[in-house]
Amino acid sequence: MNTNEKPSALIIIFGATGDLANRKLFPSLYRLFEKGNLSEKFAVIGVARRPLSNEQFQQNIKNSVQSSAQEQALVDEFATHFYYHSHDVTDSASYASLKKMAEDLDSHYQLDGNRIFYLAMAPEFFGTIAIHLKEDGLTMVDGFKRLVIEKPFGHDLESAKALNKQIRKAFSENEIYRIDHYLGKEMVQNIEVIRFANALFEPLWNNRYISNIQVTSSETLGVEERGRYYEKSGALRDMVQNHMFQMVALLAMEPPIKLTTDEIRSEKGRVLKALRPIEGNKVNEYFIRGQYGAGDLNGKTLLGYREEQMVDPRSNTETYVAGKLMIDNFRWAGVPFYIRTGKRLSTKSTKIVIQFKDIPMNLYYQTEQALQPNLLVIHIQPEEGITLHLNAKKAGQSLNATPIKLNFANKGINGLNTPEAYEKLLDDCMHGDATNFTHWDEVALSWSFVDKISAVWENTKEENFPNYPAGSKGPKAADELLEKDGFFWWPMADLEVETC
Ligand code: BG6
Repeated sequence: MNTNEKPSALIIIFGATGDLANRKLFPSLYRLFEKGNLSEKFAVIGVARRPLSNEQFQQNIKNSVQSSAQEQALVDEFATHFYYHSHDVTDSASYASLKKMAEDLDSHYQLDGNRIFYLAMAPEFFGTIAIHLKEDGLTMVDGFKRLVIEKPFGHDLESAKALNKQIRKAFSENEIYRIDHYLGKEMVQNIEVIRFANALFEPLWNNRYISNIQVTSSETLGVEERGRYYEKSGALRDMVQNHMFQMVALLAMEPPIKLTTDEIRSEKGRVLKALRPIEGNKVNEYFIRGQYGAGDLNGKTLLGYREEQMVDPRSNTETYVAGKLMIDNFRWAGVPFYIRTGKRLSTKSTKIVIQFKDIPMNLYYQTEQALQPNLLVIHIQPEEGITLHLNAKKAGQSLNATPIKLNFANKGINGLNTPEAYEKLLDDCMHGDATNFTHWDEVALSWSFVDKISAVWENTKEENFPNYPAGSKGPKAADELLEKDGFFWWPMADLEVETC
């Protein structure tokens, strides 16, 4: 399909009364509608357990999009495209009435039999729903059928394989859109462009010129009401297996021969294949874990993880992970990729720092400051931009060098907020573009890496937990991980993008 064409489709959202649908999906669909990216030929069926009338559901939609809306008439018109189906995901009779409703809407809105099934609900039902959709005839359509599936995709390699087997009974791999919302972020998508559209970087993007790469995703939030899920997940499964690995894959992949879904995914997959497996007694050498205790942030007292709702008071679950990844291929041999992510830290920030090697000889070493290495910083969020750290002459008589920054801030230039990740991903899915979704091979490779770490951590109680206070910069062990190699984490405060 031509990407300028406005696709027609029936979108069936399972979990339509949930948090994700209300906070992300409805507002994102609304923004697409407001921008004219959705044709008149679309309808949404919200599916959830509780009974609701269409009118009540449409009111939910209006409430959910109101804050981002400019025009009431447009909101009202948008909401008329939404219908509700009270549903039992395990009961064929429910699917039969859903099918009838889908067929009616298909002919009413002339949707050409195009269907998107969006699973935004508890993962234990993903497989059951996919199988029912096929067996109860909802996937028998003249147009396209696509399955959008939220994380977590399994809990480990084995459960992911079992889930994949179930959904593959109803959908082929190219009909499955596994969400990793980091891939919808503007600056994550920008990694490829920065790398492959600049003559400046690509020749240097290897172990001859780069000394190490640091990927940080820190959060100020704790586990909120998600204790039950998080206890079984921890930061390793919740953030590393998916988001962090996806960013590393984009940073390390070879240039694809074309910008097609298959070529890009296959290059990313090759990076994950080249990851040096870390297992057994190597785990605690390459990876460290943390758990937050009580603390405070901005004058607010915060509970420790073990005091949160639905959390075991002696929990061994990690809320922080830092690790060193080695990519054993020609380009990256010897270059550590350090990753770290954690909850209840002092700042909300996702950044990538590419640290270049020192120049062979320092002519300026007698200046008051040692020469700083060149850094390329990619600001993913909350600010979006790029900063290149260079050295230049300090103004004045002397020939001293001083660090300078070249900044590009997305907001400063465009004056606009970039689209929210879900808006882009929904748009991609409607156009049949799966590039920014995770392929099964990537899921399987990342689980097989992460499983070896969890095997050790789940079997050894971390006696030092909690090992960082809420609102702090994380556990000390994360600093030691880099110190052993003669590096340090670049302080977040020194890296801020400057908007002028
Ligand atoms: C989700 C995790 O995938 O990503 C959450 O389940 C985490 O625990 C969130 O808070 C972080 O996303 P973002 O976009 O705020 O960095």
